[in-house]
Amino acid sequence: MKLIKLLVASLFFLCALGQLPSQDILALLEFKKGIKHDPTGYVLSSWNEESIDFNGCPASWNGIVCNGGNVAGVVLDDLALSADADLSVFANLTKLVKLSMSNNSITGKIPDNVADLRHLEFLDLSDNLFSSSLPLGIGSLASLVARANQTCLEVSSP
Ligand SMILES: *[C@@H]1O[C@H](CO)[C@@H](O)[C@H](O)[C@H]1NC(C)=O
Ligand SMILES: *[C@@H]1O[C@H](CO)[C@@H](O)[C@H](O)[C@H]1NC(C)=O
Ligand SMILES: *[C@@H]1O[C@H](CO)[C@@H](O)[C@H](O)[C@H]1NC(C)=O
Repeated sequence: MKLIKLLVASLFFLCALGQLPSQDILALLEFKKGIKHDPTGYVLSSWNEESIDFNGCPASWNGIVCNGGNVAGVVLDDLALSADADLSVFANLTKLVKLSMSNNSITGKIPDNVADLRHLEFLDLSDNLFSSSLPLGIGSLASLVARANQTCLEVSSP
C-alpha cells in the first residue's frame, strides 16, 4: 500500500514536471529490480528515480553512458553483482551500443531479442552464470564483438 502511494506520488511529481521517465529509464529500473546483492553499492546507490536527468538519459547513474537523451552504454563489469537478470529489458534501449557486464554472478537467460539491438557493437556477458547461450541471430549484427563464456559455451563472433 505504501509502495503504491509512493508510486502514485512519484508519478504525480514527474507529471507535475511535465515528463514521465523515458522508456530507457524504465528498462534500467526493471533490470535493477533483479539485483539481489551489490556489495559495492555501485548500482543500487546511484540508480535512483530522484537523480533522473530529464532529458531522458540518467547520466548521473554509475555505469550508464548517454548519447543525448538515450542510453548508449551499460558498463557493469567486475562488480560482484548477484542478479537474476531479465536481459530482455535491454531490447528497449534502442540506441544501445555497448553492453558489458562481465565477471559478475548474473543468472538468467540471454534473450533472443538482444539480436534486435541494431546499434549494438560490443557485448560482453562473459564470466557470469547465464543458463543459455548467445542467440544465433546475434551473428547478423554488423561489427559486433560478443563474448559470453559459461561452462558449456564459448561464443565469439568478431
Ligand atoms: C519495452 O517497450 C515496450 C513497448 O514500448 C513496452 O510495452 C514494454 O513494457 C517495455 N519493457 C520494459 C521491460 O521496459
Ligand atoms: C572479477 O571481479 C572481482 C571483483 O568483484 C575482482 O576482484 C576480480 O579481479 C575480477 N576478475 C577479473 C578476471 O577481472
Ligand atoms: C572464459 O574464457 C577465457 C578464454 O577462453 C578463459 O581464459 C577464461 O578462463 C574463461 N573464464 C571462465 C570463468 O571460464
